[in-house]
Amino acid sequence: MTHTLIETADGSKTIFIPEINEPYHSVNGAITESEYVFVNRGFVFHKKKDPVIFEVGFGTGLNALLTAINAEKNNRQTMYYTIEKYPISNETVKTLAYGDIISNNASYIYEKIHSCEWEKTIKISPHFYIHKINADLVNFSVNTTTIFDIIYFDAFGPDKQPEMWTPEIFQKIYTNCSPGALFVTYSAKGEIRRQLANIGFEIERLQGPPGKKHMLRGIKKHPATNYLKTMLFL
Ligand SMILES: C[S@@+](CC[C@H](N)C(=O)[O-])C[C@H]1O[C@@H](n2cnc3c(N)ncnc32)[C@H](O)[C@@H]1O
Repeated sequence: MTHTLIETADGSKTIFIPEINEPYHSVNGAITESEYVFVNRGFVFHKKKDPVIFEVGFGTGLNALLTAINAEKNNRQTMYYTIEKYPISNETVKTLAYGDIISNNASYIYEKIHSCEWEKTIKISPHFYIHKINADLVNFSVNTTTIFDIIYFDAFGPDKQPEMWTPEIFQKIYTNCSPGALFVTYSAKGEIRRQLANIGFEIERLQGPPGKKHMLRGIKKHPATNYLKTMLFL
């Protein structure tokens, strides 16, 4: 897919795909959105000291970079799985230059996140490991021995890419989530909210990042909670 780079409201750039008229991040701020939706309402909100994350759509690597920085700051041993069908070029990575905008150390991490090998678990920094998967989520079988604590669901919008936002895909992910796992996404579409709730996530509609009214966060309830709810007919 051909793309262009655009500048967003907080000064950080993002990729724009004219073919589907869709940016990789909010035009109201790429770094702002990523930090707000995924890092703060996902990673920071989950209290596990050593979480396992699964990201849908590695893209520019911005979510991975901001998570790595936060993991280092808070000494949280973090394992980050991420899937991407269309990896971006080195040239695009250099032009986006997210590391340079954030800090010197961030540049080093950003470069390493992109240059490291796919399909392998790689240590990026003392507390952050990444495993990049070059595959299509639609026919990808999640390894059942890997259990996720936090899901960053960052596919293109449900109107642009409906095949990514299906009950089958959500079920596949849910099955591989730990009790108490979080599912965060920038989308707040009613249909997505209902699908996630049907699968078993307890859904909260939170205030969205700048320019967006809402976002969604799902929590996989502990089995005991579900049992109690059934017993009490809730
Ligand atoms: C909204 S962008 C993700 C932004 C990304 N998280 C970031 O921080 O830059 C959606 C991403 O999903 C990827 N994608 C699209 N279809 C996919 C598929 N079938 N399987 C896996 N990834 C896909 C796109 O190439 C794109 O990188």
